[in-house]
Amino acid sequence: MTQFTFDAPTVIRTKRDGGRLTDDAIDWVIDAYTRGTVGDEQMAALLMAIFLRGMDRDEISRWTAAMINSGERLDFSELRRDGRPLALVDKHSTGGVGDKITIPLVALVVACGGAVPQAAGRGLGHTGGTLDKLESIPGFTAEIGKAQVRQQLCEVGAAIFAAGDLAPADRKIYALRDVTATTESLPLIASSVMSKKLAEGADALVLDVKVGAGAFLKKEQESWELARTMVALGAAHGIPTRAVLTDMSCPLGRAVGNAVEVAESLEVLAGGGPDDVVALTVALARDMLELAGVDARDPADALRDGTAMDSFRAIVTAQGGDLRAPLPKATHSETVTAPRGGTMGDIDALAVGMAVWRLGAGRTAPGEKVQAGAGMLIHRRPGEPVAAGDQLFTLYTDTPDRVGPALAELDGAWNVQDRAPESRPLIIDRISS
Ligand code: URA
Repeated sequence: MTQFTFDAPTVIRTKRDGGRLTDDAIDWVIDAYTRGTVGDEQMAALLMAIFLRGMDRDEISRWTAAMINSGERLDFSELRRDGRPLALVDKHSTGGVGDKITIPLVALVVACGGAVPQAAGRGLGHTGGTLDKLESIPGFTAEIGKAQVRQQLCEVGAAIFAAGDLAPADRKIYALRDVTATTESLPLIASSVMSKKLAEGADALVLDVKVGAGAFLKKEQESWELARTMVALGAAHGIPTRAVLTDMSCPLGRAVGNAVEVAESLEVLAGGGPDDVVALTVALARDMLELAGVDARDPADALRDGTAMDSFRAIVTAQGGDLRAPLPKATHSETVTAPRGGTMGDIDALAVGMAVWRLGAGRTAPGEKVQAGAGMLIHRRPGEPVAAGDQLFTLYTDTPDRVGPALAELDGAWNVQDRAPESRPLIIDRISS
């Protein structure tokens, strides 16, 4: 019997012309790309075809499974901490602006009795990545092996690591999407998030699905469909999964970038920080602990009494980071001031994300080094009073030439107005498996 063999142009053409990819074609193309026999240019063309044509639920499910099968699956079921099995739970966000929640959240969940094997990502498109942010802490490394992840789970309750051998197909595809304008695709987001998370060995999963201008999917209906798709993928793999739909019209908090977001996360862990960041961190911690079956004290107390900060220090120290060393600062800054008095109106999250990316916090080529100090501080949040001449935003970069393009992104993205903008709920809804 002759074995049917696939070739990349045929697979690309099928999707380009609006067809369905068969299970075998998906398995073949993911495996061949992971091994390097399908090239970046061919995968880039296929990703663009998927971006334009979409995939149905069965294709997404198979694409996700093929990405999981491209690497190994972790199993922490035999691990113990203080003689007890671990309550393993993880969270993943679909990508936002100023979304530093993972940083305080992991430590908070650990402080309340959970254990978090957090496979995290780098920046993608206009959104920042947890790993790029954490690597601005002097000495911190996310490139840790399985043995260290296991040891940290037992000793400090969490590890925040680059996915490495977990879903290596996603690692390659993620980096390619970042530089080929193919990030904003429901099938590609769902399969990227869920392949890492299902390979990671958590017993429960909370997904922060962003809704609004700063989310990858701009239409609210698409965010709902993304949430339903990912919850169904979790359920199909037997992992209790809950999606929390949250507002991403405005950036979260006052800091957007790499080191500046770590600094804001430290404020939250010290019991302060912006209200929205604190509220979302505490709400997601409650969801994670409930789903993991941990009958814990209120997470808000663990922020107030410093135990979450203690957990964060222990995680960072285990990964080589030194929190006593100063965080990197950019060499150049530029401040935007208020043209008039009034109230700060809405601030467009997508424009801020693009501005910060232009300042050097994200990449234009795969593997590029990001600027740790690049970012932006928002001095007046929507609804806050403004006097003429007040500082509104400060932009930070090591490359002064980047300031002009960043300011151009902010053009028309904010205004000072007479009345406070309409307030929106931060947490829109929840969907559970
Ligand atoms: N997070 C991921 O891991 N992948 C995406 O595509 C978006 C957010």
